[in-house]
Amino acid sequence: MFIDPAINMKPEPLLYNPFKALVVPRPIGWISTISSTGAVNLAPYSFFNGVADDPPCVMYCPNGSHPEGGPKDSLRNVEETGEFVFNLCNWDLHKKMNLTAEHLPRNVDEMTKSGLEPMSCNKVKPPRVAVAPAAFECRYLETVKLPIGRSGRENNLVLGEVVGIHIDESVINDGMVDISLLKPVARLGYMDYTVVTESFTMERPD
Ligand SMILES: Cc1cc2nc3c(=O)[nH]c(=O)nc-3n(C[C@H](O)[C@H](O)[C@H](O)COP(=O)(O)O)c2cc1C
Repeated sequence: MFIDPAINMKPEPLLYNPFKALVVPRPIGWISTISSTGAVNLAPYSFFNGVADDPPCVMYCPNGSHPEGGPKDSLRNVEETGEFVFNLCNWDLHKKMNLTAEHLPRNVDEMTKSGLEPMSCNKVKPPRVAVAPAAFECRYLETVKLPIGRSGRENNLVLGEVVGIHIDESVINDGMVDISLLKPVARLGYMDYTVVTESFTMERPD
């Protein structure tokens, strides 16, 4: 079958838009930010990825709007204060991560509301999730405005440079991050997730 997104994203026999079920698995950027008045915010973003490694850079996409109007807190805050933190969500944290997606009034701190202890960062103001097995301290670079959706929804890609990396040494084995210890949670399509516990190795041809 062929889909033209400008016409219909779910022609028969599809019941739902398949796009997010085909870009899989997507790592979850669990993003903490702080507003100009000091309110902490934490929310998951699965349109998230690393985009360069020297210097390390990441992106996340706060699309649509906040229920109170205007941009989502993770966009408003990063544009106001210029910093964010990526917290890695592992298997032990998946339920708490989901709690932090709740649409709450702007000044509610999802980190403490979900029972997560904040930990201060070394180089940026937003706190990190203390129990996350890894966290990146990031400086905001720019927002790329993506095309507006047919529903009028605004889409934004936020780019940041990683200026500090925290790793819980319990996930390091023989000098490498051990995926079977890290157990990162990733997003699939629909309401599905996966947890990465297996891997294989393949050398490049040259
Ligand atoms: C696993 C997961 C992934 C999500 N990914 C995105 C995403 O990539 N972009 C987005 O705009 N919203 C995404 N959401 C929804 C936001 O987390 C939700 O709108 C949140 O309330 C935004 O919070 P904020 O206004 O505090 O930034 C996701 C939710 C979950 C549970």
